[in-house]
Amino acid sequence: MCGIVGYISNESEATPFLLQGLSSLEYRGYDSAGIAVIGAEGYIGVHKSAGRLETLREKIKKSDLRGTVGIGHTRWATHGRPTVDNAHPHFDCQEEIAVVHNGIVENFPALRQRLEENGHHFSSQTDTEIISHMVEDEIKQGLTLEAATRATLARLEGAMSVLIGSTHDPDNLVAFRKGNAGGLVVGYGDGEMFITSDMPALPASTIQVVHLRNGEGVTLSSEEARFWDIDGQSIFQEPRRVSQDPVAVAKNGYKHFMLKEMFEQSNVVADVMSGRVDLDVADLKLEELASLNDKLSDIERVVLTACGSSLHAAMVGQRYIESISGIHAEVELASELRYRDIQLGPKTLVVSVTQSGETVDTLAAMDLAQQAHALQITLTNAMESQSARIADGIIDLRAGLEIGVASTKTFVSSLVSLYLLAIHLGRLKGTLTKNQVNSLTQDLAHLPALVSSIQDHAREYEEIARFFARSNAFTFIGRGYSYPIALEGALKLKELAYIQAEGYAGGEMKHGPIALVDENMPTFAIALRGRLFSKMLSNIEEILARDGKVIALVCEGDERLVNKVDHVISIPDLSTHLSPILASIPLQLFAYHIGVLRGSDVDQPRNLAKSVTVE
Ligand code: AGP
Repeated sequence: MCGIVGYISNESEATPFLLQGLSSLEYRGYDSAGIAVIGAEGYIGVHKSAGRLETLREKIKKSDLRGTVGIGHTRWATHGRPTVDNAHPHFDCQEEIAVVHNGIVENFPALRQRLEENGHHFSSQTDTEIISHMVEDEIKQGLTLEAATRATLARLEGAMSVLIGSTHDPDNLVAFRKGNAGGLVVGYGDGEMFITSDMPALPASTIQVVHLRNGEGVTLSSEEARFWDIDGQSIFQEPRRVSQDPVAVAKNGYKHFMLKEMFEQSNVVADVMSGRVDLDVADLKLEELASLNDKLSDIERVVLTACGSSLHAAMVGQRYIESISGIHAEVELASELRYRDIQLGPKTLVVSVTQSGETVDTLAAMDLAQQAHALQITLTNAMESQSARIADGIIDLRAGLEIGVASTKTFVSSLVSLYLLAIHLGRLKGTLTKNQVNSLTQDLAHLPALVSSIQDHAREYEEIARFFARSNAFTFIGRGYSYPIALEGALKLKELAYIQAEGYAGGEMKHGPIALVDENMPTFAIALRGRLFSKMLSNIEEILARDGKVIALVCEGDERLVNKVDHVISIPDLSTHLSPILASIPLQLFAYHIGVLRGSDVDQPRNLAKSVTVE
């Protein structure tokens, strides 16, 4: 997924905002970057660079880019390698039209061939570049920049967000959102207007915004924003008041955003519960779902869907729903669900988990559910996102801005939110007595403090991480609720330390993976108290018998593994349901420290993006 910024003013230079905005969006993708500034003398100044934004910043320092209108882009490569030539903005043959783009033009090969046959010459391998040449042809037919953009977008297939500036119309910028390829938000200034992929790129002083919806375009001047649809019909959009908390964006003294966000988890858990859990009477109320309660009472099956870390949360949610509410629940990767012939209908509740609310596979799975008239609830950290617009009900993850690409506090918030949903469903279905609701709710009382207490052991996890910082492979195993947590621990090590790490259900080890075990293959075994502990003990014995190193994650006070394994990490002993939430935190910190020890950029790991808006 890429980051887009645009600026138009009647007097201030564009470059400073473009660079600042791109810096705030680097978490969305950082293979290459570029800006184009439309100068008063009818020219477009442009600078692009491969790699990080800092390279571009250094280039620009040595130049004199002047102009009060400009666009910028930070790229996560889909078509074409992350080179300078493939960096955005892209231009037409006359270099009078500059385009930045997020998403994929699915029919670009045929369009490019036709453009080349008509004499257009290309300077990149990207799909984006065809947009500038198509707009060029439309403008040659006498269309305005806005009309030329509409005519071009009408011929493009796929999901995309596009921003265009041109010397043909130096007093305007034109943008359009088609499908679910990452949003565009317009920020209102005083004699200046902003447009960006995401809120963090807007100036902290911005207090009025409009989020472009699917199928909407906007023409920006320095004084106004004019919204329209693909047919050119005007659309009324009421700006929404917002307040950007600059502190939230700062690192607050932590070395990395990810570390800051991990240490916010105790507060996030409390925020998720606030107004929903009444600990005085040990009761739960999800007001945001009140309008759906009658329909929720009739559902017969729950299908959860997500990607990545959110999928692992959904797997825990599946177990919550079936064991707490007694409703059949299944979970499917969104990238698979969207292509399955799965039977969904009005008696099915589809629950999507997506912190960004913009993951294209998850949105596609939601579209499938919508076509099948299934009831939908989405858990998201972005209430203005596309997933929030599609679902019938929304549970706000309330995690606050998460800059670190690897999700931590949004993952923990998803687990707590799914636990609340399971209790809510159980009560509606009548499968939970009032006492059971009280007990399940009461267990939450200790969660924020226990999350914080685990984080007090961060130094201990760092010491253990030092033993394994040079490992080239890692296995994570768990059972029941801890199996998805093992998968999440492996994913965190992959994405933060670039180590080949795999998570397995403990019961699966003997069916092949144990062949991997030797003195060079450490295993992180989640062996919490409960009916599955003895099974995990067997797994650990089998690994130790083959000289495997073992880090055991156990409940405080459980000494059964202390003299058997190489390292023990203990977490407070909470209920079976809530222990996975606590277990995920040491795994996050373990992966974080190994990533730092190996010199990874843990806030912006290579090849990743915070929200994957391409297939
Ligand atoms: C987060 O650590 C992962 N990098 C990634 O797998 C993420 O969970 C996945 O892309 C889903 O994102 P979403 O929650 O925004 O849909």
